[in-house]
Amino acid sequence: MNAKLAVLFLVLTVAMAMPILLGIRSVPDIQLPNLHTGYQPEQEIPYSHRLHAGVLNIDCQYCHTGADQGRHATIPTLDTCMNCHQTVKGRTTSAQENIQKLYDARLVEDGVPVGVEWKRVHNNPDFVYFNHQTHVRIAKYIDAEGKISDGVDCAYCHGDMTKTGVAKQEEQLTMGFCINCHRDQNDRHVAANLPARAPVNACDACHR
Ligand code: HEC
Ligand code: HEC
Ligand code: HEC
Ligand code: HEC
Ligand code: HEC
Repeated sequence: MNAKLAVLFLVLTVAMAMPILLGIRSVPDIQLPNLHTGYQPEQEIPYSHRLHAGVLNIDCQYCHTGADQGRHATIPTLDTCMNCHQTVKGRTTSAQENIQKLYDARLVEDGVPVGVEWKRVHNNPDFVYFNHQTHVRIAKYIDAEGKISDGVDCAYCHGDMTKTGVAKQEEQLTMGFCINCHRDQNDRHVAANLPARAPVNACDACHR
């Protein structure tokens, strides 16, 4: 980093930290450059969340098995799809054509499986640390009425995925989005006599 940039970064950092350090309740109104809301890249296979998670009501974690186990929710391999598509070949011609793409992706060419390259939708900058397990399994989420549930619902951060086809980014997932929730949750945890563990001022919890 050159010297000018380093100074700019320091100023930005201090400017952003001040209201937090001073205990002001609202996050500074700086919009970080995150242009991804609404991002929905086309995928090689038109996999539909609406059909699978909505109409067929398959649990999110049947496919995203990492969500309660570690940092990444993970994208399922074709083996998971084959649990059904070994036998489910599609009723309409277009469904059959789309499911055929799954079979084609399982072929091996020159010793290498063809596979599917799913395009990434959500992508926090590398300097941000986010862990699914903490949020999906360990956190207690307390709503405005004081009702306590185990884990934060996927929809809080990803919107209602049962209404989209291939995945789409619904929330901006900015620093303000994270911290506002942390602050509210800590207040509600204190009110409910539970430990308040969501980092607000500890920059290095999210930037390690
Ligand atoms: C629990 C069972 C199940 C699993 C697991 C499953 N599917 Fe499906 N899928 C279905 C059913 C049922 C249909 C509807 C087929 C029909 O009747 O036309 C379908 C339809 C489809 C279609 C065709 C939709 C259309 O109308 O064009 C595609 C493509 C597809 N699935 C992809 C996938 C992929 C990719 C995975 C893995 C990530 C997957 N499916 C996992 C049950 C499943
Ligand atoms: C508190 C917010 C939050 C909750 C709750 C949440 N996610 Fe995420 N999710 C994120 C963020 C932030 C990213 C981007 C992570 C990155 O780029 O490193 C992400 C990325 C993903 C990804 C793609 C990358 C990966 O980590 O594998 C999938 C798939 C995913 N989430 C599925 C889920 C599912 C399924 C649930 C519920 C069981 C869920 N998420 C709950 C915030 C959340
Ligand atoms: C049958 C398997 C299956 C089920 C069930 C399923 N997903 Fe997915 N999900 C996928 C596949 C395959 C992708 C990659 C293609 C795409 O981006 O749509 C994906 C992508 C995603 C992504 C974007 C990942 C990224 O690159 O950032 C999120 C977020 C996500 N799913 C959340 C959910 C949530 C929430 C549910 C439950 C409401 C759910 N999924 C149910 C298979 C599934
Ligand atoms: C729906 C509210 C909510 C949102 C949104 C949310 N968090 Fe959290 N987060 C929590 C709660 C509650 C905890 C405390 C979990 C516990 O009890 O240990 C927590 C804990 C954490 C921790 C400390 C534990 C660990 O995993 O190391 C980090 C870091 C963190 N969150 C990062 C993030 C980031 C980054 C985002 C935004 C992309 C985010 N959070 C969005 C509620 C939320
Ligand atoms: C709860 C998690 C969390 C905490 C705590 C946190 N940040 Fe962040 N921060 C983020 C996320 C998420 C982003 C990325 C936002 C985006 O992509 O738009 C970010 C981005 C930034 C950026 C980059 C701005 C840019 O232009 O991209 C700076 C600088 C920063 N944070 C400084 C801080 C400082 C200083 C603190 C402590 C006072 C802090 N952060 C605490 C989650 C957090």
